[in-house]
Amino acid sequence: MDIQQLQGLVNQMTLEEKIAQLLQLTAHFHEGTDNEGQVTGPMEEMGITEPMVTASGSILGLSGAQAVIDVQNMYLSKSPLGIPLLFMADVVHGFKTIFPIPLAIGCSWDMELAEKSAEIAAKESAVSGIHVTFAPMVDLVRDPRWGRVMETTGEDPYLNSLFARAFVRGYQGDHLKDDPDRLAACVKHFAAYGAPEGGRDYNTVNMSERQLREQYLPAYQAALDEGCEMVMASFNTVDGIPASGNEKLMRGILREEWAFDGVLISDWASIREMVAHGAAEDDAEAAYRAIRAGVDIEMMTPCYVNHLPQLIRSGRVDEALVDEAVLRILRLKDKLGLFDNPVRAADPVREQEIIFCEEHRNVSYQLAVKSSVLLKNSGILPLRPDANIALIGPFAQSGDILGWWSCEGNKDDAVQLGDALQKRLSGGKLGIAEGCGLDSITSQQIEAALETARQAEIIVLALGEESAMSGEGGSRTDIRLPQAQLELVKHLKTLGKPMAAVIFNGRPLDLHGIFEEADAVLEAWFPGSEGGAALADILLGNVNPSGRLTMSFPQSVGQVPVYYNHFNTGRPMDPANQEVRYVSKYIDSSNDPLLPFGFGLSYTTFTYSDLTISSPELKAGEALTVQVKVTNTGDREGEETVQLYIRDVTGEVVRPMRELKDFRKLALAPGESGTASFTVTEEQLRYYHSDLSFTSDPGSFQVFVGPNSRDTLEQHFKLNHL
Ligand code: IFM
Repeated sequence: MDIQQLQGLVNQMTLEEKIAQLLQLTAHFHEGTDNEGQVTGPMEEMGITEPMVTASGSILGLSGAQAVIDVQNMYLSKSPLGIPLLFMADVVHGFKTIFPIPLAIGCSWDMELAEKSAEIAAKESAVSGIHVTFAPMVDLVRDPRWGRVMETTGEDPYLNSLFARAFVRGYQGDHLKDDPDRLAACVKHFAAYGAPEGGRDYNTVNMSERQLREQYLPAYQAALDEGCEMVMASFNTVDGIPASGNEKLMRGILREEWAFDGVLISDWASIREMVAHGAAEDDAEAAYRAIRAGVDIEMMTPCYVNHLPQLIRSGRVDEALVDEAVLRILRLKDKLGLFDNPVRAADPVREQEIIFCEEHRNVSYQLAVKSSVLLKNSGILPLRPDANIALIGPFAQSGDILGWWSCEGNKDDAVQLGDALQKRLSGGKLGIAEGCGLDSITSQQIEAALETARQAEIIVLALGEESAMSGEGGSRTDIRLPQAQLELVKHLKTLGKPMAAVIFNGRPLDLHGIFEEADAVLEAWFPGSEGGAALADILLGNVNPSGRLTMSFPQSVGQVPVYYNHFNTGRPMDPANQEVRYVSKYIDSSNDPLLPFGFGLSYTTFTYSDLTISSPELKAGEALTVQVKVTNTGDREGEETVQLYIRDVTGEVVRPMRELKDFRKLALAPGESGTASFTVTEEQLRYYHSDLSFTSDPGSFQVFVGPNSRDTLEQHFKLNHL
């Protein structure tokens, strides 16, 4: 349909029909299914009447081809104008084939695989009837207490922006209408949801507009530049105003500055929550603020349906605001091809064929391999396939490795570590003991674990957080491993045997009690459906780990937030003179994280040398070339992620100590050297000044290249604007 036809449809609708298009409800409310869908928020009495449901424009969290077809057909049989329903859901890191959690995908630094994972997630959910995914979540994060760090790609604006683009490409493809196997993507949570005070979910966010623009907004904007069809408003306040009613953010930045003309949806109940925030007296005021801000769809509260009619009739709200919202929703339905084919790709037969197929699981396996990060290795890994191994811990034989937001994933389908190791040993022996529960331990469990360990030459610990300890509503103040697991480690340590730990979790942890005790530590994250297979292959050296952290690991929770692109302060600590008191430091801890952004080991070693820069001066409009030689000095083939950071030494506004600007991946055979080559231009040096102008400063810059944000070689140049 063209825009005139869609507008004509809007013109035929009654006010009530139009407002109902702005309502999103879960499947509970709809006839034709007994499927409850996914519930991720309050389900209060909403005063929703039968006619509202009959006319509501979209549905949340329902999938399954037949269920969707039934609900759509029932709905259309009652729809006078034949406007189909939109089906939306949280397809965050896979549908049935579950990929590693997004924080893990971040650690792969692999945009192609990230894109492929989104394409597969789209295909599996589209055939199950879904049209829109509430993904990608691109919130920048610095506080691992926040449970939702698992859902983002990390602490860096540049890398998050690359991933935002990759995910949107994967979900949406090039043309939604011609490709029913793709979904419309909904980037979230606009804006700055990743910075709640104290890491407590839904808490206040407080930051300057400069910081918001420089660090938090780029990834959302990148998603929209890639053509992302929808945006979800965040739960938090932005400069004191809840995002769902924030006109400056939504009308100002999103719609006017960035020219976004797609659909903007609230988060679950976030319009009504303006009342609890203290930004609206009642539901009517909340509806008023949200529609003026330009929020098109209200998720799971009835402020619009109950109050917009009166607000319009009284003249307080212009009906044109509703008309434009409805037009945007109808345009999305049209882009998805729903007016021609309301069930789109939903197909119960094909659903059986393609979901969780081998091809999809293979991509999940590859991503799990690429996203696991080897944090420590004194040489005990890889394991020999003929070794006598004791695998001990609550994750030794566990399907709880999919992670939060794997709504349709089935834990029973996940490849478990114990099974995968067993399958791959040749000549070796594997003993398995649970050792403890997630956070409980008995003397029998300890004794059984010690006995299993005594029979072995090497202990592999499988420890971690259960998936419900991260994700939405999963904030923690203590980010160590649960005490029972640390106690288990102490008991096993008394045997004096080599120990390698595999850690399953959804956030950077305080690794006290394990990092110093174990001889090797492998960060598995929640690795998804093929997790056990990928980890067993890494442990046995069938593949070489190459993941690099995209969030710093703190020494302790007291250091949080600790991130690599921090400022110097006026009193930086001199590492060579740590005893000085009146400098910016802790008296009981170093300032440095345990493990910095970009860090990760391999079974081989790489050395960096010969960092060169093509000129000591960069002129506007020209480019510099930075090159470094990287040599594989070990005895295995390996992949290195060569990282380029830049520091603007003096700015009008103080600048971070270093910022990631680019990276290259080099695959090198033993003894082989390669060159990583980067181009540096003036555009990369721009930032937001105090007047919010986005420009660069002439003067000195430092260039750092290395395997992580800490261990780098250095060069410098001057930027000359003339
Ligand atoms: O998409 C999610 C969002 O990220 C958090 N609240 C609920 C939404 C719908 O499930």
